[in-house]
Parts: sequence; structure tokens; C-alpha cells
Amino acid sequence: MVIKEDKMPDFYEVLKSRRSVRTYTAEPISEILLKELIELAVLAPNGINLQPWRFVVITQQTLLAELNANILQLLRQTEMPAAAKFESLQETLNRPDFNIFYGAPALILILGDRQVPTAMIDCQLAAENLFLAAQAKGLGSCYMGFLLMQREDPQIRQLLNLPAGYELMAAMVVGHPAAEAADKAERQPPQIDWLR
Ligand SMILES: Cc1cc2nc3c(=O)[nH]c(=O)nc-3n(C[C@H](O)[C@H](O)[C@H](O)COP(=O)(O)O)c2cc1C
Repeated sequence: MVIKEDKMPDFYEVLKSRRSVRTYTAEPISEILLKELIELAVLAPNGINLQPWRFVVITQQTLLAELNANILQLLRQTEMPAAAKFESLQETLNRPDFNIFYGAPALILILGDRQVPTAMIDCQLAAENLFLAAQAKGLGSCYMGFLLMQREDPQIRQLLNLPAGYELMAAMVVGHPAAEAADKAERQPPQIDWLR
């Protein structure tokens, strides 16, 4: 259920409870809500307030299915770094039923102006705002690194209909969680060097 503004959870609760969600119901998200998430995303700090971003929202399930198939095909041919963590990633990618979008009803792309040197950072900051805004609204979200890995592939660029001069800099799915995040992704205590 989407949370209304007057019932918003406490900010610290939002920060502490956000987890990457990897299973979604098919329930769509209204365009009004998707737009609101983006309006909250652009409140992020950004270099000299140039706001070098634009957004693409994909809710067309046939396009998501086509993107998923193409990206999986490319990723399965890509050699992953030789570390144990990446081995399990390769296994996941090889699962015949794996869907990089986890069945979410919406994919949001954040495109950055290639000519603005801070654009890559600006877009990641906007992405984090969007994740937290989604959490505050009772929605789940997940960063789409697999998609980003293939962002320069001409076929993927064409499917995404990316305008010239813009690079895909961040991407996330959002939707109604079908289950609590299984992976608690506990954090280690941060290493802090105090220079006093
Ligand atoms: C740059 C980046 C790329 C990511 N790519 C993916 C992805 O392609 N698929 C996925 O399921 N999760 C992806 N994630 C989510 C991370 O796996 C997740 O944030 C991490 O395990 C910590 O878990 P938490 O988000 O639940 O705290 C990505 C996160 C980041 C920051």
C-alpha cells in the first residue's frame, strides 16, 4: 500500500529500513506517484545547480521483457572478475528464469548530460533521493547495475531510445514489494580515521 504524506514514516526509520527489493507484485504505480518520486529526486545536491539530468520512465512490460532478454544475453557472454562474489553473480545470471527487473512495474532511468563534468555524481545523488522517497512512500526499489553495465551497447541504447548527448548514469526499478527483502545486507561498522 502506498503511504500518504500525512502518514509518512520518520526520516531515520526510512533510512534504516530501506533495502533493495528483488520481488514485486504486478500492481502498477500511478504516473502521478512516479512523477512525485522524480520531483523529490531532483532536490538532490548537484554541481552548481546545473541539473544535468533527464528521466525516462518505462512501464511497458513488453519493452522490459525485451531489454531483460537482450541484457541477459550480453551479460552471459561477459567475463566477470575472478572473485568468489562474482561467481555467485554469474550463477544468478545463468538461471533461466532470472529477470534483472524482478518483475517490477516500472523502470526509471536517470540520464546525464555528457558535457557536464559533475553529471555522473549528480545522477547518483538524485538516485539516492529517489530510493529514499520510494521507501517513505511504502514502495520497494532496486538499483539496476546489470542494465548500466550494458549502457553503451548500441542495441540497448536504441531500445532505450536514449537522446544524443546523454548517457545512462543511474537506473532503478520501483514497485510494490511482494515480500520483505530476503537479503538483510547487514553493514559492518564503518572504519573511521579521526584526524584530530
Ligand atoms: C551501483 C549499484 C549497482 C547495483 N546493481 C544491482 C543489480 O544489478 N541488481 C541487484 O539486484 N542489485 C543491485 N544493486 C543493489 C546492491 O546489491 C545492494 O544495494 C547491496 O547489496 C546492499 O543491500 P541493500 O540495498 O539492501 O542495503 C546495486 C547497487 C548499486 C549501488
